[in-house]
Amino acid sequence: MGIQPHGGELVNRIAAGGEREALLAEAAGLKAVPVNTWTISDLDLIGVGAFSPLKGFLNEADYRSVVDTMRLADGTVWSIPITLAVTDEKAAELSTGERAALVGEADGVIYGVIDIESIYKADQKHEAVQVFKTDDLEHPGVAKLMGRPSTYVGGAITVLNRPKPEKFEEFYFDPAETRKMFEENGWRTVVGFQTRNPVHRAHEYIQKSAMEIVDALFLNPLVGETKSDDVPANVRMKSYLALLENYYPKDRVFLGVFPAAMRYAGPREAIFHALVRKNYGCTHFIVGRDHAGVGDYYGTYEAQDLLRTFTAEELGIMPLYFEHSFFCKKCGNMASSKTCPHDKADHLTLSGTKVRALLRDGICPPPEFSRPEVAQILIEGMADQAVKP
Ligand code: ADX
Repeated sequence: MGIQPHGGELVNRIAAGGEREALLAEAAGLKAVPVNTWTISDLDLIGVGAFSPLKGFLNEADYRSVVDTMRLADGTVWSIPITLAVTDEKAAELSTGERAALVGEADGVIYGVIDIESIYKADQKHEAVQVFKTDDLEHPGVAKLMGRPSTYVGGAITVLNRPKPEKFEEFYFDPAETRKMFEENGWRTVVGFQTRNPVHRAHEYIQKSAMEIVDALFLNPLVGETKSDDVPANVRMKSYLALLENYYPKDRVFLGVFPAAMRYAGPREAIFHALVRKNYGCTHFIVGRDHAGVGDYYGTYEAQDLLRTFTAEELGIMPLYFEHSFFCKKCGNMASSKTCPHDKADHLTLSGTKVRALLRDGICPPPEFSRPEVAQILIEGMADQAVKP
């Protein structure tokens, strides 16, 4: 059986066989709404049920409710608006009650159809302040939001063609598949780990601390759109494989990607990340320091504080909270302020900027910070990027 999906039922909006053929034939004659890579990824994740209970892009009532209260109109917890933005010219062509085709703007592929429930104007500044706690255009999530048209089209979708992964296809699993896999392995409890970074020793420490109390780890790196200075997904994937091969028990870890875009919405995104991992079948979810944060927009433990405002029943997945972790030279091991009594001077702390500089110069950060196998792959990845124009 496994854990209940959010909202009670795993959504499946992927058309197959005759239904797909008929809808594809119909879609060719429908008005076309262009969709970019980000929206195609949202569409597919709705289709496979990763965003259950969403059956489509948010309609106006759900959108306003999510933005202002972190709940869908029916009260179900949902923290990030998943929306379809269209230009005013396109909106003028469309009407509610109509079905439209969702067509890839770059490749002309009909990715799906939407049954339009509402067409509405969004106050994006308000959305930014509610979701990101800022309307500063320096914030990558805010910049993305403000760069989109402000008319949204809501309604249930059906997926007709799925985006093809460029690489690492064998690590793409739909929620129905991960659920089945967890069950077949006999794992009653699985902790989900979100990451958009290489896994360093602090990440490994909190994962393994969690693994001591659950049956297995679902390492679920986000591989959709990230900001340009994040380590590219293909380099990260190589580093995860090297890490798992050398330091993790094979029968207690499952690696599968999360093909969503990164919002950098900190606390609100932590809720979203937890709910989505519940849909993939996780019973627990790790939330550490500044989860999904960027710059100084969010407090170190703000994501944890926000999650604590919801009841266990409302979330339906158990967050596991971790303090900022580091290697302590006096303890001679990884620790946090919960387990180490020593002074900050005894702690090995390296800023992201410092680590990037080391790697760029071909120097491995100390093994107490990053496993050498991981560092080596990051050095090679950086060198590859450097030779590209
Ligand atoms: S995130 O944007 O995906 O959250 P990252 O990949 O760095 O960024 O973090 C993955 C998870 O590890 C998050 O839950 C984050 O809070 C946690 N984390 C990252 N670094 C540390 C650390 N040094 N100590 C404790 N938790 C951490």
